[in-house]
Amino acid sequence: MLANAHPALEDFAAAIVHWQQQAGRHDLPWQTSRDPYPIWLSEIMLQQTQVSTVINYYQRFLARFPTLQALAHATQDEVMPYWAGLGYYARARNLHRCAQQVAEQWGGQFPREVCDLQQLPGIGRSTAAAIAAFAYGERQAIMDGNVKRVFTRYFGLYGNPASRAVEIELWDCAQSVLDAADPKLDMAAYTQGLMDLGSGCCTRSRPSCEQCPLNTWCYARLESRQHELPTPKPKKAGRERQCKMLILEQNGKILLEHRPSRGIWGGLWSLPQYDDQHALADACLGLGADIEQGQKMASLLHVFSHFKLHIEPWYLRGPLTRVAEPSPEQAWVAVEDLPGAALPAPVRKLLCGINEIIGSAGKHIP
Ligand code: ADE
Repeated sequence: MLANAHPALEDFAAAIVHWQQQAGRHDLPWQTSRDPYPIWLSEIMLQQTQVSTVINYYQRFLARFPTLQALAHATQDEVMPYWAGLGYYARARNLHRCAQQVAEQWGGQFPREVCDLQQLPGIGRSTAAAIAAFAYGERQAIMDGNVKRVFTRYFGLYGNPASRAVEIELWDCAQSVLDAADPKLDMAAYTQGLMDLGSGCCTRSRPSCEQCPLNTWCYARLESRQHELPTPKPKKAGRERQCKMLILEQNGKILLEHRPSRGIWGGLWSLPQYDDQHALADACLGLGADIEQGQKMASLLHVFSHFKLHIEPWYLRGPLTRVAEPSPEQAWVAVEDLPGAALPAPVRKLLCGINEIIGSAGKHIP
């Protein structure tokens, strides 16, 4: 359905604001201020990461870097430990660069306009709009993953939400809602309300439609199609997959990663695994290592019943540039303890393959 032909368009934003005030979140640590610095920090941390994980990182980070100037004057090495474990380390590098640019080019004050915010490292269109709405009350639409779910369901938008065509439709719908809303709309409450609704009510499975302020006119609810929307991403064709594995050695210990209980090698200890070189390099950076100093080893093919996995192992030996904080599912395991560890067969084979290299450092995998 076209957004501008929707019967209840002018009620949409007001219903969200009313619901946010009654049922939304009001006690998140970044909601106490309209200062763009902590708001920006929270929005960057919340990209790809859940609120419950972010809160501790956010508080530790702000205690260490209480102002934009403090962050801009720090070195990258001083910043990274405060991000270690949060993942997506390019965010931390961009965060630091962004602080320096705001300090140098904007006199230490974040710009107000979304088009200026979007020019800064790590700030995309939706993040720029969220910062502008929360800090300055600017009337700008957001469109993160949770909000996409609300809009695809409400307006009945089919097709891969990551595709360009559906993205354009989504942003058009979001803009139409704002155009139809009261000129005095409370943008901070509306923006927070959309986020809260997407994450807590309009959930992927078993959404709480009875509690939803949009339920009267929601396409998915009216047609009982909540399970079909958003349209799932097309499955990667494939009987063959590639990955990179990291063999990181430091002081006779190897970094291992506990596999999630579901999926291949569920519950076993494996090597940290990445989809591509960029993700591998990024993770190394987070661990205080530089993949450029690593050594690519012979590739390995492992055949599962339903696909083949091409493994490209990278060996890297410390010392790391700082004490690496592994993520909660990672652990440093002494080389002599590896034989007793629950390792998948190809990983055991790989680790035996580096025996000679490790052996030259005085340690041997028995
Ligand atoms: N996700 C992204 N930004 C958020 C915010 N400000 N509050 C809660 N969840 C969010």
